[in-house]
Amino acid sequence: MKVNFYTYNYNTPNKVSFSSNARTYITKKEEYIGTMTFLFRDDLDWPKLANCAIQNFKNKPKVNVVQFASSDGSEAYSFIISMLEESPQFAKKFLPLQAYDIDPEVVRAAKSGYINLTKTDIDNLEIYTNGNNKYFAKTGTKLIIDNDYIFESGPNNTGDFAYKTYKVSEELTKNVQFNNKDMYKVLDELEDNFDTILMCRNILGYFDITRARYFIDIVAQKLKPGSLFVIGGFDCDTHKTLDQYIESKNFVEILPYIYQKIPN
Ligand SMILES: C[S@@+](CC[C@H](N)C(=O)[O-])C[C@H]1O[C@@H](n2cnc3c(N)ncnc32)[C@H](O)[C@@H]1O
Repeated sequence: MKVNFYTYNYNTPNKVSFSSNARTYITKKEEYIGTMTFLFRDDLDWPKLANCAIQNFKNKPKVNVVQFASSDGSEAYSFIISMLEESPQFAKKFLPLQAYDIDPEVVRAAKSGYINLTKTDIDNLEIYTNGNNKYFAKTGTKLIIDNDYIFESGPNNTGDFAYKTYKVSEELTKNVQFNNKDMYKVLDELEDNFDTILMCRNILGYFDITRARYFIDIVAQKLKPGSLFVIGGFDCDTHKTLDQYIESKNFVEILPYIYQKIPN
């Protein structure tokens, strides 16, 4: 199945991109997948997510944060930074988080301890850290991701949207484990003790509605009341009725794209 991309057709070189990587690949099921992501992707209010998580699990000693479709690590780092910036004290019980992606190439990049960041990423980082970035350092190393259409010099060598490779700080790398695994398999094995945040953002939109709904069905069976489920803007833009379907499975949307499981 071919999927139309959200804003840009990343498969065409020379298109402007805002993401920290723009790798694409085709799966054995002939699904056309993109690994594009960026720091503090703006379909989510990250400080609100952090505060909501802290409040929601205030009586829990430990919270199991599971991130599917983790790509190059941008999303894991956004979560960790948001927690640390909101409350270093409470952040501890949410970390380290477990991140999963089915694509070995993007997992290799995530595990490398380096990340490619564009000006958009750096601008977002400045905002979310109040100009005090201690999380990524410039480096001479180059992280090359196979089939990535992000340009080192920007389209037409303008420098716009160009990326640079940064070293990820230990504060971040020690708080995430990247795994190369299919989220459907991980979900089958998941055991929730009323203390899970399950993030699965901007991948269900690549699947057909039957496959996306099947995923929601299993999430609804697995998550216990009080646990949180987080999806992405692309998922809802592609499948217009996805939010209603999630709510029909005993979830309440407590913030945009953030659902809380309620008793059946
Ligand atoms: C568009 S990226 C989304 C990245 C990030 N979650 C975000 O919202 O910015 C989608 C990612 O899902 C991954 N993916 C696709 N199918 C998957 C599966 N069955 N299990 C785990 N990851 C999968 C892709 O390899 C890709 O890195």
